[in-house]
Amino acid sequence: MTPDIQIRALDASDAQAFRTLRLEALAGSPEAFGASYEEDEALPLETIRTRLSSHPNAVFGAFAGDTLVGMAGFAVYDRVKARHKGVLWGVYVKPEWRGHHVGKRLVQRVIDHAARHVIMVEAAVGLTNDGARRTYHALGFQPYGIQRKALRVGDTFYDEELLFLDLPQPAED
Ligand SMILES: CC(C)(COP(=O)(O)OP(=O)(O)OC[C@H]1O[C@@H](n2cnc3c(N)ncnc32)[C@H](O)[C@@H]1OP(=O)(O)O)[C@@H](O)C(=O)NCCC(=O)NCCS
Repeated sequence: MTPDIQIRALDASDAQAFRTLRLEALAGSPEAFGASYEEDEALPLETIRTRLSSHPNAVFGAFAGDTLVGMAGFAVYDRVKARHKGVLWGVYVKPEWRGHHVGKRLVQRVIDHAARHVIMVEAAVGLTNDGARRTYHALGFQPYGIQRKALRVGDTFYDEELLFLDLPQPAED
């Protein structure tokens, strides 16, 4: 059965829920994320509130009732010559909610949002992360390379597949 999940953009008032889920993600799947648990644990809540209010950057959350059970982030490159590109980051679904297309819906929301602001979205995914790779490929992301030893967790190195998704030129406001 498809669970009743609502997806919406997070805002500053979601900072604590975001922080809790983000730390769960970093603790449970350290090889899937560029950030470490320790780095994010040290972030002041105010910094998270600011990040959640930095349009057009955005984090989309999947809610089961009032509970945040998944999320996916989008960030635009800062530098002038790269502002036509964005990055998909921080895709995570709580283990008990996986397998119901929550991840797919979250990434699709990022794509829909990104299409209003950039002409390309980049992503990086662990080479052995079948779930995330399948999700991204199904939504149109194309692999363009492999970064060897992209991440190091303890003594283990992880290779990542690099992906891009072309988007139509956004209309001028
Ligand atoms: C990757 C992740 C977000 C997927 O979330 P999810 O809600 O279970 O994914 P979905 O249900 O939307 O699945 C999307 C597709 O991938 C497939 N898939 C999902 N997990 C899979 C797995 N472990 N192995 C193989 N296929 C998988 C699904 O069958 C589905 O394919 P379909 O559309 O053909 O049916 C989730 O497993 C997760 O949070 N993993 C840990 C963190 C992580 O790896 N994040 C990605 C960082 S790049």
